[in-house]
Amino acid sequence: MPRIVTTSKDAIAEAASILQGGGLVGLPTETVYGLAANALDGKAVARIFEAKNRPQFNPLIVHVPDAKEAEKYVEMNESARAVAAEFWPGPLTLILPRKEGSGISELASAGLPTLAIRVPAHPAAQELLKTSGLPLAAPSANASGEPSATTPRHVADSLGDNIDLILAAGPCAVGLESTVLDLSGDMPAILRPGAITAEDLEPLLGPVSHDTGTHDKPKSPGLLLKHYAPSIPVRLKAVDVEEGEALLAFGSIKFMGVKGGGAAKDLPDNRIRNLSESGDLTEAASNLFSYIRELDNPDFAGIAVMDIPDTGLGLAINDRLKRAAAGR
Ligand code: TXA
Ligand code: MG
Repeated sequence: MPRIVTTSKDAIAEAASILQGGGLVGLPTETVYGLAANALDGKAVARIFEAKNRPQFNPLIVHVPDAKEAEKYVEMNESARAVAAEFWPGPLTLILPRKEGSGISELASAGLPTLAIRVPAHPAAQELLKTSGLPLAAPSANASGEPSATTPRHVADSLGDNIDLILAAGPCAVGLESTVLDLSGDMPAILRPGAITAEDLEPLLGPVSHDTGTHDKPKSPGLLLKHYAPSIPVRLKAVDVEEGEALLAFGSIKFMGVKGGGAAKDLPDNRIRNLSESGDLTEAASNLFSYIRELDNPDFAGIAVMDIPDTGLGLAINDRLKRAAAGR
């Protein structure tokens, strides 16, 4: 069983140091408990997906203490500032363009050009955000396929020892995940209904599209996400490199050859990225999105991807690579 500690000054300090060291903390918010990690640390974010045992990388919400901090990580527009002034802190998540060079891990937003961001109202969440000084990526603190956890006990039962510490602060007041509002497109759109409704938002924003189904049965959250697809072919389970291809490696490439002559290890620097030389899936996950992007160069014939084991985080990595291979 993971350690559950009642929120106090000492508990917050300990949680902050766990987060600074790349660990995972159960975070009380007013909506549901979150499974929090340092959003600037790709490996820590990869551990979230590992702990949830989710076979896919879905984009996560990044939590910050106030709207001023949010400006560091996303491009706030006029609409965003207006709703933030009215509803933050509170159960409202905004989807906005990622800010260039903000340092937020690409894995946190699953390679998307947008980022989900929210300012939670819960005093324990506020304290932890301020004490750690970190933006915190946090999905709901439940294992894949289980309902969102609204008490510290639920978190412990669902995630077990996959979490380093749970900050306990009783049951969540709202008990339902935050409203997700997309402000990155032409028209504001609710992607996930929650406590803050279209009626609440329309006085500030004008018409808001909200054809999402219900909170429990969203129409197709997956389809709402436009996944990044490389502009060149992606070839999976490659055992060698074809002429003109770039290589996305995993593990040792000592014995890999290039068709037409030569060894993979002698490819020019811009034509090779190794997700993890030691074959570590957590490291591989943290590098995945940035490396695909770096190799997506129209000068190359395609990207050859080495085989990645279909276990643990490898499932989610392979899910993403299959989409990249199919999605052009
Ligand atoms: O109340 C909440 O929002 C809780 C607490 C912990 O803050 N968090 C939560 O996170 O529910 P999660 O990961 O379970 O749900 C995040 C939702 C997903 O539906 C995801 O698809 C959507 O936000 N989302 C995240 N980033 C997105 C993006 N860039 N574009 C579109 N949707 C995004
Ligand atoms: Mg969830």
